[in-house]
Amino acid sequence: MQERVYELEVLSGLERFAREELSALRGARSLGELRFTYDGSTRAVKRLLSAVAAYEVEYFDVPRPKALLGHQHLTRLLRFVEDVLEQDTFKSFRFSAAGRETAVFARLAQEVERACGLRHDPKEGELLLRFVRAGEGWEVLARLTPRPLSARSWRVCNMAGGLNATLAHAMLRLGGVRSGDRVFNPMCGSGTLLIERAALGASERLVGADVDERALECARQNVAVSKHQDIEIGQMNVVEAELPARAFDLIVADLPWGDAVGSHASNAELYPAFLRAMAHVGSKNARLVVLTHEVTLFERLLQDERRWTLRESMRVYHGGHYPRMYLLTK
Ligand SMILES: C[S@@+](CC[C@H](N)C(=O)[O-])C[C@H]1O[C@@H](n2cnc3c(N)ncnc32)[C@H](O)[C@@H]1O
Repeated sequence: MQERVYELEVLSGLERFAREELSALRGARSLGELRFTYDGSTRAVKRLLSAVAAYEVEYFDVPRPKALLGHQHLTRLLRFVEDVLEQDTFKSFRFSAAGRETAVFARLAQEVERACGLRHDPKEGELLLRFVRAGEGWEVLARLTPRPLSARSWRVCNMAGGLNATLAHAMLRLGGVRSGDRVFNPMCGSGTLLIERAALGASERLVGADVDERALECARQNVAVSKHQDIEIGQMNVVEAELPARAFDLIVADLPWGDAVGSHASNAELYPAFLRAMAHVGSKNARLVVLTHEVTLFERLLQDERRWTLRESMRVYHGGHYPRMYLLTK
């Protein structure tokens, strides 16, 4: 197979999870950061769960994009675009570049339209071609898929506060993936964490709960499309219900942040009640992974917390915010 150069786009703060996932991709050789060469099928790159998007990269030894219109470079550019087109179905394309409104990019767009039979749609184009300065030359990065990798095919129902799937994946990896785990996702919303956990392999149990029946209906639709049959979901107020003692080994939750879901006032009561309830339902060595934007409140609670021990925390990027992800153990 042909060796190609790829680059991953990852949510800020999650680079370590993408690097770990890449190190398990046999045949991938790191070129530093999130760039690598790989001679296997592009399909394997598109299956990476920690990346928002994956790009194939081609370097051009040109001082400015105008030189890409020269015969030799243009031929190579069009061959590169054709190569990406052969690996997925795209109906249109768009450019991302400083100066993409200029006559040079208009000419380049005409050439791609003519040679590849693809419609130029500057706003919604499915094949995203990024032109980026690289040292003395320029690179073209072609996104491998019409939609970002993080827009999972199982997501047929979205809800306010829904979690980015790559962040859900990272939370689960932070908590550890063990086939013997009984996994609980209280406040499961549209089911992102449950489906991402199922995608990582078997578990002893995989249970989600939410107080809101509309959220559960959304989760059921997503779970049905995901075809993961081992996910159990039920309606419950997880801080008021009588939960069984020591029933789960891994608990993962993105708590209401008080903006899209819940309020800051209600969180002041919800968060301590949550830590108490999860200590009851968690097994002897339970791990608890929490994502929240209520950092001040959560860290103040952790200072007095005796049941849970903080192991690790990291700031991540999600939908215009910088929440934190915490790993606690009993
Ligand atoms: C941030 S959203 C979760 C989003 C979810 N991870 C997703 O990807 O769609 C928080 C969820 O907590 C639920 N919730 C809030 N308080 C709850 C409680 N006491 N018991 C159960 N669920 C609760 C809300 O209904 C909401 O669906």
